[in-house]
Amino acid sequence: MTAQLIDGLALSKATRAEVAQRAAALTAQGRQPGLAVVLVGDNPASQVYVRNKVKACEEAGIRSVLEKYDASMTEAELLARVDALNNDPSIHGILVQLPLPKHIDDHKVIEAIAPAKDVDGFHVASAGALMVGEPGFKACTPYGCMKMLESIGMADLKGKHAVVIGRSNIVGKPMAMMLLAANATVTVCHSGTADLGAMTRQADVIVAAVGKRNVLTADMVKPGAVVIDVGMNRNDEGKLCGDVDFDGVKQVAGWITPVPGGVGPMTIAMLLVNTLESAERAHPVPASPAPSRGR
Ligand code: GUN
Repeated sequence: MTAQLIDGLALSKATRAEVAQRAAALTAQGRQPGLAVVLVGDNPASQVYVRNKVKACEEAGIRSVLEKYDASMTEAELLARVDALNNDPSIHGILVQLPLPKHIDDHKVIEAIAPAKDVDGFHVASAGALMVGEPGFKACTPYGCMKMLESIGMADLKGKHAVVIGRSNIVGKPMAMMLLAANATVTVCHSGTADLGAMTRQADVIVAAVGKRNVLTADMVKPGAVVIDVGMNRNDEGKLCGDVDFDGVKQVAGWITPVPGGVGPMTIAMLLVNTLESAERAHPVPASPAPSRGR
């Protein structure tokens, strides 16, 4: 058996085209969506991520404001910038690229972002809203994974067992909550899990989000399972690869996401969706007046 590919690139293009249409409608009313992207320091990976996010905004007709600061920026200075962006009505989303330099407390900065502009979905208020099923911004990577499941007819996971490998605040934990909200039975595995394969072999859906190559191999996958690879690593030849042994696992799985071209493009697409929705919420379209009755 060879798995079918879940084409994140194609799905992200379709999502971005829809965002572009809705963004154009807002812009035509003088209400262009705006995203502020804040980068502190010169982490090379962060520079690439930020460039891609800004480019995606441009292509979708979302105004992006890139603020780049030297690694010597103080925490107080960054908090003051976040405060200014919170109060800027032309900015609907604020993204502070992580990791931040060591002398700045990530948590403090994320908590300073107004939840109404937390398009990354990292604020405690956003995480809490997801947990209790209230409206709020969803973290972009797991949100993109859910859209990929939806695209293969798996929006409802009732009766399915989903195994998440990884328990980070930005992927593993919100992923587990979104799968649970879609009615899956969810197991979260991590570095303290005794027998990972025993868990993953029971899974109908596996999401690998560890940041380590070959965490999931063919012998750990039930035939026909859906495998979503969130990993972004380099192999010995410097080629981009995920957490999943793609060549082996694709022989067993029913569906699999490639790296690159899977989760990565969907993460950016969902950032655009969150920014657009923030702008739509900030400027609700007024209800059209009831047609006047002629007498
Ligand atoms: N660093 C790596 N991924 C992300 C992300 O999705 N958002 C932010 N803000 N920083 C990141």
